Amino acid sequence: MSDPTEFVLKKRLFIAPAILAGAAWLLAATPLARPGDPAIPARVPAVFPAGWRFPAGSRATFAQHAIVASNNRLAAEVGAQVMKQGGNAVDGAVATGFALAVAYPEAGNLGGGGYMVIRMADGRTDAIDYRETAPLAATRDMYVGANGKLNGESLIGPKASGVPGSVAGMLEAQRKYGSLPIATVMAPAIRLAAEGFIVDSALFSSLSQGRHRIGGFAGKTVFFPNGAPPPVGSRLVQPQLAATLRSIATSGSRAFYRSAIADSIVAEMQRSGGLITKQDLARYQPVWRQPIRSTYRGYTLFSMPPSSSGGTTITEMMNILEAYGPTAPFGSAERIHALASASQRAFIDRNSKLGDPAFVKVPLGTLTSKAYAKAIAKTISRDHADPTTRLASGIHEGNETTHYSVVDGAGNAVATTTTLNDLYGSGVYVAGAGFFLNDEMDDFTSQPGTPNMYGLIQGEANAIAPGKRMLSAMSPTIVLDPRGNLLLVTGARGGPRIISATSQIILNVIDHRMSLADAMSAPRIHHQSLPDSIRVEAGGFERSVIARLTAMGHQVYELSGIASAASIMRVKGGYEGFDDPRSRGGGAVGF
Ligand code: DON
Repeated sequence: MSDPTEFVLKKRLFIAPAILAGAAWLLAATPLARPGDPAIPARVPAVFPAGWRFPAGSRATFAQHAIVASNNRLAAEVGAQVMKQGGNAVDGAVATGFALAVAYPEAGNLGGGGYMVIRMADGRTDAIDYRETAPLAATRDMYVGANGKLNGESLIGPKASGVPGSVAGMLEAQRKYGSLPIATVMAPAIRLAAEGFIVDSALFSSLSQGRHRIGGFAGKTVFFPNGAPPPVGSRLVQPQLAATLRSIATSGSRAFYRSAIADSIVAEMQRSGGLITKQDLARYQPVWRQPIRSTYRGYTLFSMPPSSSGGTTITEMMNILEAYGPTAPFGSAERIHALASASQRAFIDRNSKLGDPAFVKVPLGTLTSKAYAKAIAKTISRDHADPTTRLASGIHEGNETTHYSVVDGAGNAVATTTTLNDLYGSGVYVAGAGFFLNDEMDDFTSQPGTPNMYGLIQGEANAIAPGKRMLSAMSPTIVLDPRGNLLLVTGARGGPRIISATSQIILNVIDHRMSLADAMSAPRIHHQSLPDSIRVEAGGFERSVIARLTAMGHQVYELSGIASAASIMRVKGGYEGFDDPRSRGGGAVGF
């Protein structure tokens, strides 16, 4: 078989031989169907522009029974191992989550929060929201200085942290759906922390990048032992984190929220001037929610409702696209215009209407309805862009997360996204307990009209209030094919670009019939309403296409990368897993 890169180049010159080669590739890559397997729609080999950095036709990891795809390979191995021991997909996901907290400290966490969407093979669906909450002492304008400008405290340091939700959320998900004792599920993570793991180049460079953030706080002795990150090939042991994980495995949530670990968090807050108190920790609760169920051209999606904006925005955007009409070819100006215009409109609603449903009335029924999308689709012209300021009268212009997908041998599926927000969160490290705290407070509207770290300009619905969850873009999503069989488990990291990456992976699979690897390797675009422009991945689109979009009135800017996903797709005889080629050190592991 030819090298996949070479295959792409040849395909551009000799279409017919390429189709034959593509068919051969598909046959070689996917085993024969098992008797009784549901039908799998055929995939069409993708064609990417010559300047695009990822080849079409990459091989995903195949597994017959169960698989985990994650931005961190060690964590994926842990999840697969726990399922091999008899755990189900929720056990596998929770094991992966705790392992990420050890081996992927830039985003895996105990001091952050996240979301999990679950679909059990018997058809039950569920979603758990373990997003952080604002401490009780938080106030609406706490990040606005005397000069009326943002003071930067939502981004780094102790005041940036919301009350962590990850431990409560993962334990609750495992209690409700897991099948193994929690001690078994957490054992590999405890081992990774106590015995250590080998530092790879991905961790080394991420720590080097996070130096300014980590260096001012207690984590520097762990991650910069001699003034530099532990060298590639050395062993990183985290005994305090191992002790913390052991006490969670033994005493559950209480250990983290009401006893010694809580004391360490509060002591850290008092030392450095943070707001989180024992009362904040003791009252933290994850929330079970009904996933948003939507359909797109006969496929069914289950995704995350508020306090994340992910599911609502993806649903609105895809409903608009469906109503807009048939799909133009991948990479064409017509397709990008449709995607960007639908996304622009969905983000206008996201940024102005969504917030924590315990605090604001979210018009979820309207935003996710086909009729609403149809009316919006009518406002999209076929040949020109509309400025956001004209579409959104109520808005005035004034990385780090990780996603993992898990499927077990019974067909139970879990999509989870978790984060500290920025790389290593607020930088604050809980001395004595061994983990970083998030800087999730920056996801609130610190000041209407002023962009946050992702350039999002948001409204009152997402204003800071004590005990409130800050709006997220995390979008763990599970897709069923038109017959109701599990097809895709996906989600991404990347702030608001999560929404674009996740929806475009789904659209690449449904509309462009790409394989999983092609759907994830394909160049992406992003439009978040303000700034009023399309961001495109550099080299991913033909110059003539960019010129046509510009002529339509779009402002087009290039970015080096848009988000990073980790997905699983059902194929003949089992599943494929693929970690985003934009990230380093991840992978899919199965059996
Ligand atoms: O919840 C959110 O939308 C953000 N805190 C996610 C941050 C993120 O994805 C950073 N990763 N690269």
